[in-house]
Amino acid sequence: MTSIYIIRATLENITPLQTLSVTTFRETYEAYNTPEDMQHHLSTHFNTAQLSTEINSPDISYYIAFQQNTPIGYIRLNTGQAQTDLKDQDTLEIERIYVLQQFQGLKAGQLLLDKAIAVAREKKAAFIWLGVWTKNEKAQAFYHKQGFVPFGQHIFRLGADEQMDILMKRDI
Ligand SMILES: CC(C)(COP(=O)(O)OP(=O)(O)OC[C@H]1O[C@@H](n2cnc3c(N)ncnc32)[C@H](O)[C@@H]1OP(=O)(O)O)[C@@H](O)C(=O)NCCC(=O)NCCS
Repeated sequence: MTSIYIIRATLENITPLQTLSVTTFRETYEAYNTPEDMQHHLSTHFNTAQLSTEINSPDISYYIAFQQNTPIGYIRLNTGQAQTDLKDQDTLEIERIYVLQQFQGLKAGQLLLDKAIAVAREKKAAFIWLGVWTKNEKAQAFYHKQGFVPFGQHIFRLGADEQMDILMKRDI
């Protein structure tokens, strides 16, 4: 198997990051949402200006997984005020972790999660947390296997649709 490696995204990686963001979001959620809600979400959250601002934020970091020269997945980590909930100084949120469908099952998700754990340890975070859609049972099973346990719920807005997320956390 070809080895997978992870890099921290900079502005130089904006194009692959945008492509990964849009493609993986479509692959994961298109079947469950209206085209209008999807379009609104994709254009609001994954436009170049928005992603550039986020890459430059001290509280947000993106990491991209590559197989050879092909970008195959990414993770977005938030600390401090960039977190979508909690916002404690000693917690770290995984806001997004996505691997292209055709590359799933090759341990890219594992490597991206390992990177999140390393960053959390570096920052001396107490725990890592995330929100996962109640209907996304596949991701819940992945997190469960990786030691995450449920601890609450919050609302995630996709276009005009309000969806319930399960909050899960893992000590580090
Ligand atoms: C969830 C996701 C990131 C996992 O990444 P991946 O690269 O496919 O997973 P890996 O190959 O790294 O798997 C790592 C381990 O988790 C296990 N695993 C992966 N998916 C699993 C699942 N759905 N259920 C149970 N275990 C799972 C693997 O078997 C492997 O365990 P092993 O080391 O004992 O063999 C990926 O499948 C994905 O992008 N899914 C769609 C997007 C998504 O839902 N993201 C989360 C949004 S909240």
